[in-house]
Amino acid sequence: MNKVTKAVFPVAGLGSRFLPATKASPKEMMPVVDKPLIQYAVEEAVAAGMTDLVFITGRSKRAIEDHFDTAYELETELEVRGKAELLKIVRDTVPSHVNCIYIRQPAALGLGHAVLCAAPVVGEEPFAVLLADDLLDSRAEVPVMKQMADVFHDHRCSVLGVMNVRREQTGQYGIVSTERDSGEIQRITGIVEKPKPEEALSTQAVIGRYILTGRIFEHLRTLKPGAGGELQLTDAIASLLEEEAVLAYQFRGVRYDCGSKLGYLQATVELALKHPEVGEDFAAFLASRA
Ligand code: UTP
Repeated sequence: MNKVTKAVFPVAGLGSRFLPATKASPKEMMPVVDKPLIQYAVEEAVAAGMTDLVFITGRSKRAIEDHFDTAYELETELEVRGKAELLKIVRDTVPSHVNCIYIRQPAALGLGHAVLCAAPVVGEEPFAVLLADDLLDSRAEVPVMKQMADVFHDHRCSVLGVMNVRREQTGQYGIVSTERDSGEIQRITGIVEKPKPEEALSTQAVIGRYILTGRIFEHLRTLKPGAGGELQLTDAIASLLEEEAVLAYQFRGVRYDCGSKLGYLQATVELALKHPEVGEDFAAFLASRA
């Protein structure tokens, strides 16, 4: 199996938890300090060696395409004004060796359906899926997708990023059961979308980072609507499990659920405190409020 060079970013969801902010602009363009969520995810994929970035977009998502495109007027204006640093920031949203490919998901039928929309571009190859609303801070370690690409390289099968959650939270996640109770890399024996706490087989939750083999598309094609009436990627993975090994990887780093208001605020505070420009002043501000 080849190296993973393709990364899929499903960004066609409704973002209803952030209305009205997401009425006319994408959730994935919400900034954490000074970068939109999608750019954190793109940087993580690029750091893992991925060169073809496939965005599954939908209505009101044009801003994402514009963000990774050339901004002629802005760049000319910054050039004329001699703002070299800002010009570099604007031009560096995506490196020149990387291709951005956009596919429309005609209706938000679920994450599984969004991933299936990438099939014509991905083909049979293994590929990554990154959900930009999960912001992963690897805290100066190897970026999380690179950690997962290394696991894939060693084991040559699908890898899901997982973390332990509190039992009362299992209903918010895909939950995996594994061969053993602990360990950084585990073989998955079962996966269920949003189980009730009393029914969950474990508290290991799948976060928005996946490396999947091309076989997943076969399972997505025959998928029936699952939890919430949506086509669930989790259900396709449950079916893939019957055919191939799938690994759970306990990533090293911190995950912020920026799809929820609280997680988004936590990410903003933590990343602001580390920001080279405002970190110190922001820390002083927080201390002054305590
Ligand atoms: P979420 O479950 O967070 O859904 O999707 P959402 O619609 O974005 O947000 P809420 O729950 O209404 O607030 C997880 C990821 O899958 C994508 C979303 O864009 C998000 O990155 N997604 C979901 C799609 O691309 N298409 C879909 O049909 C559903």
